Amino acid sequence: LALHKVIMVGSGGVGKSALTLQFMYDEFVEDYEPTKADSYRKKVVLDGEEVQIDILDTAGQEDYAAIRDNYFRSGEGFLLVFSITEHESFTATAEFRCELLPVALLPYSSFLEPDYSLTKWEQILRVKAEEDKIPLLVVGNKSDLEERRQVPVEEARSKAEEWGVQYVETSAKTRANVDKVFFDLMREIRAK
Ligand code: GTP
Ligand code: MG
Repeated sequence: LALHKVIMVGSGGVGKSALTLQFMYDEFVEDYEPTKADSYRKKVVLDGEEVQIDILDTAGQEDYAAIRDNYFRSGEGFLLVFSITEHESFTATAEFRCELLPVALLPYSSFLEPDYSLTKWEQILRVKAEEDKIPLLVVGNKSDLEERRQVPVEEARSKAEEWGVQYVETSAKTRANVDKVFFDLMREIRAK
């Protein structure tokens, strides 16, 4: 049974937990309870094949940054979530991406024993070369709140294009595109 490990990343309050719970249990959670870290597991059928998805729902709040970073290295794919109603959460996606890129790309051992034979520049190049291989989707959530939109679709789309990743708008409330983002991410992980 193939296992796909997905990590939810993004600022506090953007809807990482709401998206996860909607995907897992088909329900929308109205209340906001800041997450520390919660994990979920589900068997799904991906293109006719039964697979297991493990979802790690991380903390967006700044207070939890230290715990959060520890989790990034365990992910195979990431949903980088912001809220279309909060421009600051969109700006923050660039910072989150910087945080997770080196963690996801460099071998785990390089954190314990840095490879000193590589110059800084070579390390950067190595990361750059691998960059487009990280399964990652940029997710603009709360699409049901169109009247409160602060992030134009075009702005988000051009950022995603620059990063060479897909941009999808979701609503954890109406369930719009919720399955799509998890399934498309699993397909990217599988193709790696
Ligand atoms: P942290 O755990 O602190 O990182 O936040 P989070 O990203 O997990 O946010 P959470 O899922 O808890 O959602 C925050 C608030 O936004 C909650 O009150 C949700 O009900 C609401 N919310 C989440 N997604 C949507 C959505 O798609 N539409 C609407 N209208 N509200 C949403
Ligand atoms: Mg949460």
